[in-house]
Parts: sequence; structure tokens; C-alpha cells
Amino acid sequence: MNVFDAITQRRSHRGTFQNRAIDATDLEKLIEAARWTPSPFNVQPWELVIVQEAAGKGALAEVTERAIVEQFKDAKFLDDNSRWMRLTASDLQAFGDGVLLTDHVTLPKLLQDAPDGILEGMLKNAKAFTLLGHLGAGKIPAKEIAAQVREAPLLMLVTMNCKRYPPGDGGTRWMWLSMGMLIQNVLLAATALDIGVQFVSAPLERPADREHVRQLFNIPTSHEVVTLLRMGYVEENRGNSVRLQSSAFVHREKRA
Ligand SMILES: Cc1cc2nc3c(=O)[nH]c(=O)nc-3n(C[C@H](O)[C@H](O)[C@H](O)COP(=O)(O)O)c2cc1C
Repeated sequence: MNVFDAITQRRSHRGTFQNRAIDATDLEKLIEAARWTPSPFNVQPWELVIVQEAAGKGALAEVTERAIVEQFKDAKFLDDNSRWMRLTASDLQAFGDGVLLTDHVTLPKLLQDAPDGILEGMLKNAKAFTLLGHLGAGKIPAKEIAAQVREAPLLMLVTMNCKRYPPGDGGTRWMWLSMGMLIQNVLLAATALDIGVQFVSAPLERPADREHVRQLFNIPTSHEVVTLLRMGYVEENRGNSVRLQSSAFVHREKRA
């Protein structure tokens, strides 16, 4: 697969994976893609924790489940989310940004069949969901997503070693940039290998959860846990995804 095809065909994979482990040779390729990431002064600040055994996956699934239950009680989180939630595929196309609500949660039957306008109204008043959250509404999506974490053939914790700091005042910025590049290298290599990848941010949103994950996997305090990726082989990686037109973000010579 050429690079341009990998860039444009990569998708976040939110479904299930084929029930088989990642081949050792493919895992080596993912690691090799990560290894060749550029970094400021070539400091190579990354460390990866590859989790393929049930104990580690189960521990991450538990943190994920608890975090999502709490997110459903958090008015600010719900409100911030609702801004980027699109209710239909045609809305998603029309906006050119955001994510499809149903890609992230399975709606209860009652809401699936709700008359037009009900869901829109609920999203506009997403804060009101906190009440439902306190009544346990987050438990169903939390269990679903936790199960996806538990059942993924491979989980990858991407961490940044803050001791490998480059010179200059901007050091932290450049290190974070570099971590993003590493992740993209892994995502593109995975695409070329028919491996689907999903970011799982929930267990790393709150400082206390990040700290817990750090301890669970013996990650030193000098390291930042940057992201969690779940991955496995997919038949076809065709998630719902859209982009703004380039005219929305490219300026020639100066911003108009
Ligand atoms: C830093 C970061 C965090 C993300 N967190 C999540 C996540 O927790 N769950 C999820 O399903 N997708 C997550 N995504 C994926 C985005 O939703 C996705 O990239 C975006 O909707 C565009 O879709 P695409 O990746 O299929 O092109 C994350 C992406 C990034 C870059």
C-alpha cells in the first residue's frame, strides 16, 4: 500500500476485530514504524507497553469502565461532547467534522425510535443527562466499551519519557509533537497491515486514572501515559469519517 492510500484509507475502528492474535512479524513492523519517528534532537522520548495477556487487558478494561460511568455524570464532559456529536450520517457529511453518536454508544430502543427532534433536543441539553448518569445510564456504554478493550487482540500504551527532554524552552511542545508523529506512524503501518486501531481515551482522561494505569504497568513517574490504542485485524476498515474542505483551513500567503 502506498503512503497516500494509507493516509486516506486509515479509519478509527470502533467495531470488533477478527479473533486472532497480531502476528509477531506484523507487531515488529508496527514497532519499526514507531522506531523511525522523528523527534527533536533525536531524543526519541517514547516507550511502548504492548499488552496481549488477559490480566493487563482486564485491568485496562476495568479502568475504562469506571471512567465512562463517571463521564456520564459529568455535566461539562457531556456538554463538551455534545458539540461534536452528529446524529445521522447525512449530518456528519454536512458538518464535515465531529463523530456519529451511534458509533460511540448503542442507543436504547426507546431513543432509537424516538420521533424526530427528540434526540436533537436532548443533545442541546446534554447537561440534563447527568441526572440519567447518576441513575446509572453510563453503565451500559461503559460495559460495552470495556468489553471491546478486554477482547482486543492487542493493546498498546504509548508513553513519553519526560527525562529525554530536548534543549530549548519549547521542549515539551516538541516532545508532544513527536509523540503524535509516533502514533501516526503506527496507525499508518497498521492500515497497511489490515490492522484496525482505535484510540481509547476514557481511561486516561482523569489524572487519577492516568496515575492508576501508570502504577498498574510499572511505568515510572518520569513518564507520561499519552494514549491507549486497541488493535486487531479487520476485514475492511471503513469507519464513518469526514473532513472539512481544505479551503476551510488552508490560507495562501496570509489569512484572509
Ligand atoms: C488524540 C485522539 C483521541 C481520540 N480518542 C478517541 C476515543 O477515545 N474513542 C474513539 O472511538 N475515537 C477516538 N479518537 C478518534 C477520532 O474520533 C477520529 O480520529 C475522528 O473522528 C476522525 O475519524 P477517523 O480517525 O476514522 O478518520 C481519537 C483521536 C485522537 C487523535
